[in-house]
This record gives sequence, structure tokens and C-alpha cells, in this order.
Amino acid sequence: MKNIFPGGLIERILKKTGTPVYIYSSEKILENLEAYKRSFSDLNPLFCYAMKANSNGAVARLLAQNGAGADVVSGGELHRALCAGFDPRTIIFSGVGKTDEEMSYALRAGILFINVESFEELKALERVAARLKMRAEVSVRINPDIDPHTHKFITTGKIGTKFGVAFKEARELYAFAHASRHLAPVGIHFHLGSQIDSPKPYEKALVVVAKFIRRLGTDGIKLKYLDIGGGWGVREGFDMLPPALLAGTVGPLVESLGLALILEPGRSLVAAAGALAVKTLYRKKSGLKNYIITDGAMNDLIRPAFYGAKHPVRPLVKRPGKAARFDIAGPVCESGDFLAQDVSLPTPSRGDILLILSAGAYGFSMSSQYNSRPRAAEVLLTGTNSWRLIRERETYQDLTAKEK
Ligand code: LLP
Repeated sequence: MKNIFPGGLIERILKKTGTPVYIYSSEKILENLEAYKRSFSDLNPLFCYAMKANSNGAVARLLAQNGAGADVVSGGELHRALCAGFDPRTIIFSGVGKTDEEMSYALRAGILFINVESFEELKALERVAARLKMRAEVSVRINPDIDPHTHKFITTGKIGTKFGVAFKEARELYAFAHASRHLAPVGIHFHLGSQIDSPKPYEKALVVVAKFIRRLGTDGIKLKYLDIGGGWGVREGFDMLPPALLAGTVGPLVESLGLALILEPGRSLVAAAGALAVKTLYRKKSGLKNYIITDGAMNDLIRPAFYGAKHPVRPLVKRPGKAARFDIAGPVCESGDFLAQDVSLPTPSRGDILLILSAGAYGFSMSSQYNSRPRAAEVLLTGTNSWRLIRERETYQDLTAKEK
């Protein structure tokens, strides 16, 4: 992977911002979006960026300005998407537990459609729409019972997970929506999971979903949108898999259906575009283990602790000498607090910067203030030599601001 974090520029940034700080490359994000657009040019789909991957307004705005829509899963994300300037008619709302207030917000904002995930939710949406004297455009999230062969916490398209509804029940949901004055069934949706490294699971899902769409057609229900979710693979330390691989597989299946295609990429657009810069505080040994203790911790980047994710580590300055093996841990009082384990590096000096790579997705957006650590700052590289602070580092005052 090309180095998108030039040492000189990063050093200048860190002098101003301090550490820990998330740094994202706008060029890389746009390169990823363009790769999707190019690969899918025949189908001209709507790419609804999954805001949960990185919901910073500047990142979202960049994608909105370049023709992406947004996939949101909470009222908060909808608020962020609207603030970032996404056209409401390019926003879709997914998730298993939307409240009445969130559904009402989405309807009043005029979003494209709501992905519903249970019969009770559909009925609740009907009541909300009736109260607003509106007709809610809906899509049903199918659980096609397909294993995407990924981490179990990010597997969503299997029966037994909380997501979506099985085909049999989905047919009832569509019939209910079709008969209602306050609902209009316009789409169908599935999302199989995340970090999927083959087009096969999508292909399998599309084959059964296509059959179901045809059956709906014979029930007199004609849909407009086919939303195949996100999840396209990008491994830590690598670029995303070529989206042409996905387009080549799903294209022929989708074309024959004549529906407008929607994708919900999150990670693949932003993961490789981001790094978390942390500073070496101390080196220590514990038995046979060598530790580098940094000022960044699991509250800043929880993926290594939570999913066993292996983010590559790159020292900003290469020290001479033989490499040794290190665990890189933060100051949080938990043995699970590590950013990387068993990585090979020349021993860094105190104060040396380490870049934790592939941290543009589910990094800051999953961060917390655990151990009362103010959340990190965020920076966007805007050109080869230019950058912008896009979120200030939180302060101690921020930690207590809402407390009474
Ligand atoms: N659409 C829906 C309905 C989703 O639930 C998700 C992710 C996406 C799209 C985007 O998937 P992506 O393209 O980013 O794979 N925190 C985990 C990932 C959780 C993904 C949840 N849903 C991680 O850090 O690996």
C-alpha cells in the first residue's frame, strides 16, 4: 500500500495537535469512492455511505459533495447526515431498533426510505406516518440466512442473529405495507455482514432475493430499489478488494431485475484512508514480553481488543538497530488494552510516534471516554501539503460538562 502519510507533514501536524490524533486522507477516500463508481458505472448505483464507519462531518461532507448518499442507523446519524449536506432523497435509515421519534424525524426530513426489520416496527412506522398524515416509503430487510464467513460480531445475514426477517415473514410485511394507506413498499434490503472478502455471499443472497422479488411481482407488488448493503472487504493493512470483483458478480444478477441498485459501503471507503498517531511514553518488560506504552489506548481504538483486529504499526521515524517484538498498550487499566500485539519494530525512543494504520473506519466512531480520557483530535489531509483540524481534542471540561 502506498504511503499516504508523509513523515514531514505528519510531524508538522503533530506539533500543532499533539497525540493521540486520527488523521484521514481525503485523497484516499475519494479514490475509493471513484473506484466504486468506475466499477459499477453500468449500473449507476447510489452509494449510501454507512455513516457509522466514520461519522465526522468533514468526512461525510466530502462524500456528500462527491455524489454519495448516506446510510444512517440512528437519529443522531440522520442529524449528522443532514448537517453534512446529503440530499435527504439519498439517505436511507437502517437498524433493528428505531424509536417512534427517530422514524418521525426521518419522515419529516423526507429521506428516500426506511429499512424495516420486524413486523412490529412496520406497524409502529404506520402509526407514526398516520399521525404525520404521510405515506412512509419502506424497504424490508431480508435475512437471507447466508454466512459471509467473517467475525461473528459482524455477521448479520444469518438466521439466529437479530437482523432482518426471513422470506416467509417478509412476504407478510410486504402485503401489509401494500394494503396500508400510510405505507408504500418501495425497496428490498439485505446486509450480510462486514469485512466480506469474496463476492460469493452476495451472489448467493441475490439469487434467492431475486426469486423473492419475482414472487412479490406476482403478488402485485412492484419495487423500485434493491439495496445490497455494505460489508465489501478491506483487511487491515490492505486496500479494499477491487470493487470490480463485486460488480462483475452482482451486475448480471441485478440488471435482469430492473431495479435501481443501492450499496451501503462504510469501511471500504474510509478504513485504509486513516491512521491513529500515538506517542511512545515508556518501554518496559514483563517477563519475556516487551511493552511499548503509548498515549493512545483502547478507548481511542477498540478494534484490537474487541475483534482481535490486527492493525499494522508504522514508526514515523525508523530507529537503527535490530527489530524486537512488542505489544503496544495504552494507559487504560485493563489487560485487554492493547493497540497491537507481537509486532516487530526497532526499539523506539521515548516520544517516538507510531502510526496505527487502517484506522479510518470504526476507530474514532467507536471511541469512548473510558478512564476519563478525553477523546482524540481528528485531522483531514486536504492536499499533498495541506491539512485541517476537523475535530478538536476533548478537554477535561468536556468530561464533566453534562453532569449535574
Ligand atoms: N449497512 C448496514 C445496515 C450495516 O449494519 C453496516 C455495518 C454497513 C452497511 C457497513 O458495513 P461496512 O461496509 O462498513 O463493512 N464495528 C465493526 C464493524 C461493524 C459493522 C456494522 N454494520 C468493526 O470495527 O469491524
